[in-house]
Amino acid sequence: MPGLRERPTRAGRPPPRSESTYRAMPAGPSIPSASSGGHAPRRSLVTGGAGFIGSHLVEVLLARGDEVTVIDDLSTGRRSNLPGMGHGVDGLRFIEADLRQALGALGPGERFDEVYHLAAAVGVRLVVDEPIRCIETNVEGTAALLRFALDHGPRAGAGAATLIASSSEVYGKSEKSPFAEEDDVVYGPTTRSRWSYAASKAIDEYLALAYHAKHALPAVVVRFFNTVGPRQVGSYGMVLPNFVASAIEGKPLKVYGDGRQTRCFCDVRDVAEALPRLLAEPRCRGRVFNLGSDRSISIRALAELVLEVLGKDAAIEHLAYEQAYSSGFEDLRKREPDLRRIRDAIGFAPRRNLEQTIRDLAAQMAGERAASPGAPGGGVKRGTHP
Ligand SMILES: NC(=O)c1ccc[n+]([C@@H]2O[C@H](COP(=O)([O-])OP(=O)(O)OC[C@H]3O[C@@H](n4cnc5c(N)ncnc54)[C@H](O)[C@@H]3O)[C@@H](O)[C@H]2O)c1
Repeated sequence: MPGLRERPTRAGRPPPRSESTYRAMPAGPSIPSASSGGHAPRRSLVTGGAGFIGSHLVEVLLARGDEVTVIDDLSTGRRSNLPGMGHGVDGLRFIEADLRQALGALGPGERFDEVYHLAAAVGVRLVVDEPIRCIETNVEGTAALLRFALDHGPRAGAGAATLIASSSEVYGKSEKSPFAEEDDVVYGPTTRSRWSYAASKAIDEYLALAYHAKHALPAVVVRFFNTVGPRQVGSYGMVLPNFVASAIEGKPLKVYGDGRQTRCFCDVRDVAEALPRLLAEPRCRGRVFNLGSDRSISIRALAELVLEVLGKDAAIEHLAYEQAYSSGFEDLRKREPDLRRIRDAIGFAPRRNLEQTIRDLAAQMAGERAASPGAPGGGVKRGTHP
């Protein structure tokens, strides 16, 4: 692929730049595949695989023996998130490029059993600052991905099982709680660019559902609620890594607004394990699923919990939203998923509690800081609670 940086896998790919043996993670729960079986390794494509959620998914797929291709432009992801960083990994091919460019350059012989589309312009702050990039990446990228998945399935005439990452933001500012998949969505005016992320993800959903209806593409849409855990960075306004970083540094934890707004946080490892299960279950295709935790906590209580779990006594400061954003920023008081559908479909229930997630995130951040002082993962910048 001229012009693209590629790290190859074991199966007859172009000559490697660097390679080493991947030592599989300890086996997690048995994760089925959407492919029809046989002994050839499953071929999985993960867009955004160097990102926070994507990198945990890549670990799950490698551990079950897949050949994994990752496409990521590293705009918000990090190469160091991928296993075997700097050495090459058996079974993992990394293509560092914009999604649309990379898909166009992959040849017609490239076939995938499963496609996980996680690449997106992410984070409310990024969306407010760069709305054009956000809309184009999310809408054009997903349109290109779905066309690709239809033509590059496991065999001619069969599209790849495809998972499209959407967001709880799609519900907009509806005051109904908890949010169920068939609920109406409610957005603010188009003059508030904050809603462009929700609208772009809603278009992605419409596209995926239409590919399923019109072309029988085995597509599943997943609305992630607040996902947290190791490798999440605070630079794009995510609340938990910002709180943990502040606690580690002994700086005040900054809570926007009155702190009584509530969210439900789910560990990224629980989320990553659920994704292949959704693709493997034929009844999930052509449907939308909430994925997250339904344990609600206020942002003020989250700040207190971080200090308690990490044994720190830093201050908690309240800031007006206007200090983080332009005036008129609209935040939600409450965001909670109705998990009945995903529970019925794959028996999903979060396994890790928030205390454990905070400890693991803090340990990962502290390890990175020790290895390279000034590493990303916690600089408290202007941003929002996701
Ligand atoms: N983390 C959450 O709580 C959450 C909540 C709702 C939805 N989501 C969705 O989950 C997915 C993953 O999010 P995340 O939290 O892991 O964020 P992330 O920023 O860590 O991951 C996104 C990845 O996509 C890559 N990317 C962005 N634009 C690209 C492009 N044009 N071409 C190739 N790669 C590109 C980034 O470099 C990054 O690695 C996204 O689709 C996001 O909208 C996440």
